[in-house]
This record gives sequence, C-alpha cells and structure tokens, in this order.
Amino acid sequence: MADLPRVVRATAPPQARVDAVQAALEARGLPAAAAVEELGQLAEEAWVPGNGARVVARAWTDPAFRARLLANGRAAVAELGLTLPKHHRHLVVLENTPSIQNVICCTQCSCTAFTVIGLPPDWYKDLEYRARVVRESRTVLREMGLDLPAEVDLRVWDTTADTRYMVLPVRPPHTAGWSEEELAAIVTRDAMIGVARL
Ligand SMILES: [Fe+2]
Repeated sequence: MADLPRVVRATAPPQARVDAVQAALEARGLPAAAAVEELGQLAEEAWVPGNGARVVARAWTDPAFRARLLANGRAAVAELGLTLPKHHRHLVVLENTPSIQNVICCTQCSCTAFTVIGLPPDWYKDLEYRARVVRESRTVLREMGLDLPAEVDLRVWDTTADTRYMVLPVRPPHTAGWSEEELAAIVTRDAMIGVARL
C-alpha cells in the first residue's frame, strides 16, 4: 500500500486558541469573556484547600460531625456552607489512622472534589503520577517525601465522575487543646489528597 500523505498542521499557541474559541462563542451571543472571568475568580477565591481544612478541623473537634462526615460527606460539608457541583453525587471521606494511609488519584484525568479540597495541583494531572501511584504507590509517596513504615496499610482510591474523595488526616498529637481555627491552619491540600501526613 502506498504511503498516505502526511498532514502537517501548525498548532497555534494556547492564547491564540483561547482567543479564537472565545471569539466564536461571542459571535454566537454567548458571553465567554464574562464566564472565563467568573471561573478564574472562583478558582482563585472560592475553590481553595482552606474549605477542606475547615471540614477537617471540625471533624477533629466534633465527634458527631465526624460521624456524619464519614457517613455522608456531601451532606456534612453543606453544614459548613460548602457545596459540590451536582454531578459530584458523592463525597466519600476516607479516614486515615496511624496504620492506614488513604491516597486519592484520578487515573482517567484530573477529578477532585475541587470545591472542597481545591483544584488539583499540576503533578496530580501528570500522566506518570496517575499511572505510578496505583502501581507503585509506596515508592511514589517516598519520592514525594512521605516514607511510610512497611506496616502502614496503603489504600489508593481512583476518583470517578460522580464519586469524589477527600482524605481525613490524622490529627497530630501535639495539637491537643488547639482551636478549630488553629487546627484548620495546619491542614494542607496534600494531606487531603493523602500524599502527606501532618
Ligand atoms: Fe478525572
């Protein structure tokens, strides 16, 4: 069979492509610029790990809330004024213990409970991380600075479109007596993804 001719297309830089899509939407009467602006603002101000940190701090200090959170994450975070998009039907909260470490990932793409734990960091979306965290989780965590003793049971959870996860980290023993606000200040996005301990 004869070789088919190769089609070579020059790819425009991202900003030029964004501008083209935006112009096409605007031409059809869809206010793309306003939507982009709004999304940018939400991403920077509303979808931040500080939300999940408040949830964790409440769970550490209020056993009844903790029980509700573990039973139905979506309903429990609503008590703190936090909502998830409709298609995030379930928020499953995974409780770490000294002998269990939960880690979340999205092998398909980049799904997270972003309105609660914040938008995913770049490494979470990286093809290599997504592949390796399920195959050689312990090694990946060690490379990220979390060297778990062999007796710690490592559990990796793969996000789907409608089921989102957040990790409830172990409360550090030195925080006895701290206020909810002080506790929230030490909770990090990485701890809620499960690649770090506090
Ligand atoms: Fe995804």
